[in-house]
Amino acid sequence: MSIKRFLSPVMTGALALAMVLPAHARDFRLGLITPPSHQWTQAAEAFANEVKEQSGGEHSIAIFPAQQLGNEAQMVQQLQTGALDMAFLTIAEISNRVPDFGALYAPYLVDNIDQAAALLRSDTAIELLDQLPAEAGLVGVGYGMAGMRQVMSRTAAKGPQDLAGKKLRITPFEPLRDFYIATGAAPTPLPLPAVYDALANGQIDAIDMDFDSILIFKFYERADNLLISNHMMFPMVGVVSGRVWKDLSKEDRQLFQTSMRKHLDGVIDHFQQQERQQEQQLRALDITIEEAGKDDFATAISDWEKIWSNKAKSLPSLRQAAAEIKAN
Ligand code: BEZ
Repeated sequence: MSIKRFLSPVMTGALALAMVLPAHARDFRLGLITPPSHQWTQAAEAFANEVKEQSGGEHSIAIFPAQQLGNEAQMVQQLQTGALDMAFLTIAEISNRVPDFGALYAPYLVDNIDQAAALLRSDTAIELLDQLPAEAGLVGVGYGMAGMRQVMSRTAAKGPQDLAGKKLRITPFEPLRDFYIATGAAPTPLPLPAVYDALANGQIDAIDMDFDSILIFKFYERADNLLISNHMMFPMVGVVSGRVWKDLSKEDRQLFQTSMRKHLDGVIDHFQQQERQQEQQLRALDITIEEAGKDDFATAISDWEKIWSNKAKSLPSLRQAAAEIKAN
């Protein structure tokens, strides 16, 4: 009797497919919080296309942007169980789990986007990624970034004194929260996709944001005062689930690493190149612009240091690497 008589047509089809495909052909999934138009999502798409092409169509990577798989905390949980294969994450969620990564958010660790790019490409920053498998169950493949952080507010702000008591939206992570508490503001954690409505309905008075997102999401329509402070860089990290990684062949690891690093590095280039032009775009809008620097935030910086010099052991080595970059 033929075995086919015991199998449904669907099962027969699945069996045939399994016999044709190599044993390790897989459909992977990559999650991220940014919308399809954002550069991080574009880079993820380019990475997926390259992997498909370079694996001769054997592997595919489906991209899930805009928090489709949940917020970053939920995505990290899925990565840890192996339910999600890869993600591009803000360092925010990573620093909530591995406090040493909070060092990357030291206020004025770097002064501008070029220094941020150089620091994220330094051995000191890259070595931080070695902590991720043991501490978070993730393999850190490389860094990307977004623009330097600025403040947009509904009423004019010339410096930290004008932020006192204001409900100020932050990306949900502790180093940023501690910085704004030190300025006297009332930090209000909100994920990126929730920010526009929160500004529109008056739930918040101000936001911590980069030039790029201010332009993409048109936040200036709801808060028309921009304080250019450049107070922090905003790294992103490309990760693969540790559980998924351990079952990958040497060739697949090599392919994912090489291709993901290339596209993450392209994100760094992109933000580096567009930062000044985006600043000019914002300056051309009908909004009020003020500027503040390290000296204006001196008290907040020193309060931040008191908390984070104990929590983030890599802070001195990152400061040293940043000092070398600034000196060159
Ligand atoms: C934010 O939370 O502000 C953010 C997240 C990802 C990209 C850019 C900004």
